[in-house]
Amino acid sequence: MINSVHALFHRLDAGWDPIAPAYAEQYAAREWRAVDVALIDQLERWIGGFQDKRVLDLGGGPGQYSAAFAQRGARVTWHDVSRNYLRIAQRHAVAVGVDLEFSLGYLEEASKFIPHPFDLVFNRVSWYYCKNDRSFAKLFYALMKPGGAGYVDTHPAEAEQGRGTRRIVQFLNKWLTWKIGHPFPPRGRIARLFQKYPIDYMIIDYTSVRNDRVFLTKSRGAPR
Ligand SMILES: C[S@@+](CC[C@H](N)C(=O)[O-])C[C@H]1O[C@@H](n2cnc3c(N)ncnc32)[C@H](O)[C@@H]1O
Repeated sequence: MINSVHALFHRLDAGWDPIAPAYAEQYAAREWRAVDVALIDQLERWIGGFQDKRVLDLGGGPGQYSAAFAQRGARVTWHDVSRNYLRIAQRHAVAVGVDLEFSLGYLEEASKFIPHPFDLVFNRVSWYYCKNDRSFAKLFYALMKPGGAGYVDTHPAEAEQGRGTRRIVQFLNKWLTWKIGHPFPPRGRIARLFQKYPIDYMIIDYTSVRNDRVFLTKSRGAPR
């Protein structure tokens, strides 16, 4: 609710961007050098190859994963709220010679893609910018086609100490699912939210204290 009101006053069409240009350049330079090739190889095996698959990079930022998927033959849609990252992702896409589709908007505005769901929905370290974990899981699931896959990597609430106001914000999200700002979801919540829906397969990786990683496939028999 509070985040929805915030969005009303921070409009992309009026030029609002949560990411400052200098920070975006700095983050992009670091992350483009640190692409996790083992993760891309893993996803490639799990989804049976990227060739001609449709991939949504949700909260795609500088576009390093969008470009990597496209280099392996996927048709990739990058979606993010930041115009500064959009420019960076476009620049890199040209530099590495891939064609991406770009979509600027809040995470929730990816709902426009529901009529054409994806083979893979990829969401790396941006889940916590959603307005509500439960409704975002529902949207995420709807964006996967039956038999399609999803991948989420997010920091969990347990990864940060949380003092003062941050602690209250974490408490409200954990116990009442009210989000003010962008608290990390409690460990395990994302897997549990997806388990409410028909899925065929799920891998949960909590080996890193700083990351919850979930890979799942939507049941082939799930209604579209
Ligand atoms: C930590 S970066 C991660 C970027 C990229 N996924 C990666 O792996 O490097 C978080 C991303 O979330 C985006 N973001 C923040 N708030 C958002 C929102 N409300 N809707 C859509 N994207 C948002 C930022 O612009 C940024 O690109």
